[in-house]
Amino acid sequence: MDKHPLIAEILITKEQIQQRVKELAEQITKDYQGKELVVVGLLKGSWVYMADLVREIQVDCVCDFMIASSYGSGTSSSHHLKITRDLSTDISGKDVLIVEDIIDTGTTLDAVQKLLASRNANSVEITTLVTKPSRREIDIDVKYIGFEVPDKFIVGYGLDFDEKFRGYSSIGVLKEEAYKN
Ligand code: IMP
Ligand code: MG
Repeated sequence: MDKHPLIAEILITKEQIQQRVKELAEQITKDYQGKELVVVGLLKGSWVYMADLVREIQVDCVCDFMIASSYGSGTSSSHHLKITRDLSTDISGKDVLIVEDIIDTGTTLDAVQKLLASRNANSVEITTLVTKPSRREIDIDVKYIGFEVPDKFIVGYGLDFDEKFRGYSSIGVLKEEAYKN
C-alpha cells in the first residue's frame, strides 16, 4: 500500500527504493557474470526486497530462504544461531548472496554468513536494503548496501512492527499511537 494513517514520517520513498534497487542489481549483475548465483533471503523481512532485486538482476539465479535467529549476548563467539528453516539447496561451490532487510547489531547475519561459508560455498556476500551503522555490535563486511538510516525504528517494504506494515511501499517511522494497540 502507498499511504498509511499510522506512518508519521517517510524516510525513504517508494521511488528512491526502486531506483536504488536497480543500481544495486546492476552492480550484482556485473559481479556475478558466469557464476552460479544462489540468492538466500532471510525471512521474513527480506522477501519484498528480494522479490524486486531478483527481477532486476540479469543473471540466472536459484532462490532459497532461511529463518534464523541468534541468542546470547556479548561477542559473536558467545552467540548461538537457531535455524528454524534451513536451505534446501546444496551451496557447495556456489556463489551465495544473502539478502537482508535491515542490519541492526549484525549478530544474526554474522552467524549465518559463517555457517554458509562453512558449507564450502565459493563465496558468501551480503546485501541489505537498509543499515543502521550506529547500532552495529559486530563488524561484518556488507558488499551491497541500499541506504544508511539513523537509529530509529522503521517499517515498510518488508520491515514490520508486530508483523504489520510489511506491505507499505515506502520506508517510514511510525506514529506513537501505533505502539499502543
Ligand atoms: P540484528 O541481528 O540485530 O542485526 O537484527 C536485525 C533484525 O532486527 C532485522 O532483520 C529486523 O528483523 C529487526 N529490526 C532491526 N531494526 C528494525 C527496524 O527499525 N524495524 C523493523 N525491524 C528491525
Ligand atoms: Mg530480519
